[in-house]
Amino acid sequence: MKIILIGFMGAGKTSVAKILEHLLNYKVAEMDELVLQKAQCADMQQLIEEKGEIAIREQEIAIARDLRSVENTIVSTGGGVVMNKIILDYLKEKKSWTIFLHAPFEILQARVAQDPHIRPLFQNMEQARVLYDFRLSLYQHYADLKIETAEKTPAQIANFLSATRKFS
Ligand code: S3P
Repeated sequence: MKIILIGFMGAGKTSVAKILEHLLNYKVAEMDELVLQKAQCADMQQLIEEKGEIAIREQEIAIARDLRSVENTIVSTGGGVVMNKIILDYLKEKKSWTIFLHAPFEILQARVAQDPHIRPLFQNMEQARVLYDFRLSLYQHYADLKIETAEKTPAQIANFLSATRKFS
């Protein structure tokens, strides 16, 4: 079984994955880290400056292909994975459960502002909101379950997921 966490930047995918990993005794595949390793870049800012956003998408496709058959793994995706259908197709190829971590844009904006980790695609608020609006229906489309995260902590979400999972 693979648990796939999707949602916009600031949704809490990485934080939830880190807690759920211990609750379920699963591994975590953190796609952003894998992208940076493959691209040999220190952070997303450097990757985008040197190779362009397209390089993120290309690496995400290659990583999703590599993750097709993994078992007992939580895949913490980057917020842009829904931009290429092939990525979710690969990730969902074997038994999987896709969770959309949702929050209103203003909440995400506040979370990202407090996070030391710089997100190049969340610097210009007008552009970020356009991306958010565009992607919302894509996250909904791919999700098996949507969780409203605005008033929940990552630990509450992870506990809920661990308690309600329906798989062997
Ligand atoms: C991106 C989200 C980031 C990272 C990259 C692009 C996006 O991941 O993959 O900066 O397009 O939404 P997080 O959602 O983990 O911040």
